[in-house]
Amino acid sequence: MKQSKSFYATTPIYYVNDAPHIGHAYTTTLADVLVRYHKMLGHKTFFLTGTDEHGQKVQQAATVRGVSPQEHVDTYNVRFRQLWSQMDIAYDHFIRTTDQDHKNFVQECLQKLWDKGEIYAKHYEGWYSVGEERFFGENELIDGKDPISGRPVEWLQEKNYFFSMSKYQDRLIAHLEQNPDWVLPDFRRNEVLGFLRQPLADLCISRPRARLSWGIPLPFDQDFVTYVWFDALINYVSGVRKKTFPDGSYIWPATVHLLGKDILTTHAVYWPTMLMALDLPLPTRLLAHGWWLNGGAKMSKSTGNIVDPIPYMQRFGVDIFRYFLLRDMVIGQDSTFSDEAFIRRANADLANDLGNGLNRVHRLLQSHFEGKIPCVNLPEGEEEQRLREQSEKLLETLAASVEQFRLSQFVEDILQLVRLVNRYLEVRAPWKLAKQPEQGDLLALVLRTSAEALRIALQLLSPIMPSKCAKGLSLLGACDQGVQSLRWGILTGGEILGQNPGEQGLFPRIETEKASTEKPVKPAAENPDYFPLDLRVAQILQVKGHPDGDSLWVLSLDAGEKSPRTVCAGLRKQYSAEQLSHKMVVLLANLKPAPLRGIISQGMLLAADGSDNLVLLLEAPANAEVGMRILPAQSTAPAPDLIIRRKDLDKHSLQVLSGRLYCDGKELLCEGSPITSTAPHGSSVR
Ligand code: MSP
Repeated sequence: MKQSKSFYATTPIYYVNDAPHIGHAYTTTLADVLVRYHKMLGHKTFFLTGTDEHGQKVQQAATVRGVSPQEHVDTYNVRFRQLWSQMDIAYDHFIRTTDQDHKNFVQECLQKLWDKGEIYAKHYEGWYSVGEERFFGENELIDGKDPISGRPVEWLQEKNYFFSMSKYQDRLIAHLEQNPDWVLPDFRRNEVLGFLRQPLADLCISRPRARLSWGIPLPFDQDFVTYVWFDALINYVSGVRKKTFPDGSYIWPATVHLLGKDILTTHAVYWPTMLMALDLPLPTRLLAHGWWLNGGAKMSKSTGNIVDPIPYMQRFGVDIFRYFLLRDMVIGQDSTFSDEAFIRRANADLANDLGNGLNRVHRLLQSHFEGKIPCVNLPEGEEEQRLREQSEKLLETLAASVEQFRLSQFVEDILQLVRLVNRYLEVRAPWKLAKQPEQGDLLALVLRTSAEALRIALQLLSPIMPSKCAKGLSLLGACDQGVQSLRWGILTGGEILGQNPGEQGLFPRIETEKASTEKPVKPAAENPDYFPLDLRVAQILQVKGHPDGDSLWVLSLDAGEKSPRTVCAGLRKQYSAEQLSHKMVVLLANLKPAPLRGIISQGMLLAADGSDNLVLLLEAPANAEVGMRILPAQSTAPAPDLIIRRKDLDKHSLQVLSGRLYCDGKELLCEGSPITSTAPHGSSVR
């Protein structure tokens, strides 16, 4: 029987004292996404993450808090677990270096190396940095200070135990030379080789217990505990040594250790030499990613520029946050985190490209095929063939992109397919076909082809955005079926998930003051039948007087969205609160929100100028429901992200003609019914 491929990914185990930030979130999301891709490809997977809980800093923090180190780490490791659960991170095991099983294994390793003569005691003196918990050579210091943290160092003299790392230098160099992609990216491998051009020193692995008690005692000398890295690196084996893949095969060695570039030497030099001495196989790859920068500097507690992931997830949703992390960092390079970059990315890729394509196709399927994927009686034309070929090409590159960790580029390729779908829709204009009964077959072909390509895009994005893509797939009547889903032509006549009229799309545009002012009005030429005013039926829920304007009512409206809208309307002289309450009215929903005497009005109610300065509110037809669109016949609703300004509105002529509402000479209808008004013929509407 053909053995399925295995994939074991690890993240560094994070220092338990630190508050989790987006640097940690990035590595862990990257691991999670890679594992989900491998699962999709039918591979057996294992994902290990955890916390690094020993050492001087933990001991000090516990003392400050007046608790035992164990109590301290028991409390603090939870912050990481909670974040991973909030971020939809599906690890298989969370290891803590204070787990008894891990401690036992570290001691077994120490004993083995001691017995083999790979560990020896020596008196040692050097510059010691408390911050970094390590000694530095005189020539490594910068201005006499710790070269990493810039903090002062102290001269220490003590007996310690050393691992004979130098013995393995040649073997390690040979390994790096024979396995050119053992360390990725390439330039990081060269850095390691550069480092190995200097003679390698032996590795100090202990601390006297008198100075540091919060560690794992050396089995052969109880007066000493092992040093942080020797303890921590072993987690990658101890975390899986008693586990197997479902088919009973061993999990170690790791397929990939994911890590930040700052901890490359420990992983590419200390760790493989330790494994060589322990006669254990080496990990297959090390992938060193860059840093997330904020304000030009690496995010860190000491710089005070840490970005906490939680507010982003609360504001924009977990999946959008995961998408941003994966899309914006090219593996190996540094990346800058900013609100602007985040919002720009989410709006461009998700709201505009993916969200729009999906909304258009879903809406047409709902309105013209009773919410079902139609059967197709026409052969593919050139345009359809191109979409199919692009989709198949993408599917073919999946395995290689994932194996070579080219995720950012892969996501870009998926987005290219989505953009192609949107262009295809513009060319085929299904909204026009929908109005020509004789074009029913072509309409079916166009919708089915677009739905299929979008299904593939969603399927391929689902490891990055699991919940959003699952919902997106169900909007197309599909679901994730792993390997089975990785081919063209799966959609059958199944039913698609319905959406309530007015329900927000899957990827609503993120509105900020800046984003909405910067957004140019989309050229109508992109789609000649496209109507730029988002007019919909809304119901007045609540009426309150404006505290600062006696002609204004402050209305709360249900426009079929998640939450009610507030609109200020100058109707107070003419309409009482009772008259307005529960009325079904016509809302211009995509007018740029603007303050009216201190209260932001989110849209405008349409009213006609009657005679004698009367203002006549336009009402929705009797059978209308909240959220229904009001459009000229044969037009398409505006894209959900299109915001218009007053001056854009002024370019249109809204009028009552013969008792009915018109815009630029075309009658506006709500699902076929006219909007009537008693205003005189020719009255303008605002
Ligand atoms: N405990 C050690 C790792 C032991 S692994 C056997 C450790 N922990 S850490 O919490 O300080 O850092 C863990 C990881 O977070 C490192 O890979 C580090 O590169 C990463 N990051 C910390 N700040 C970062 C950014 N600003 N950006 C991206 N990742 C960075 O080191």
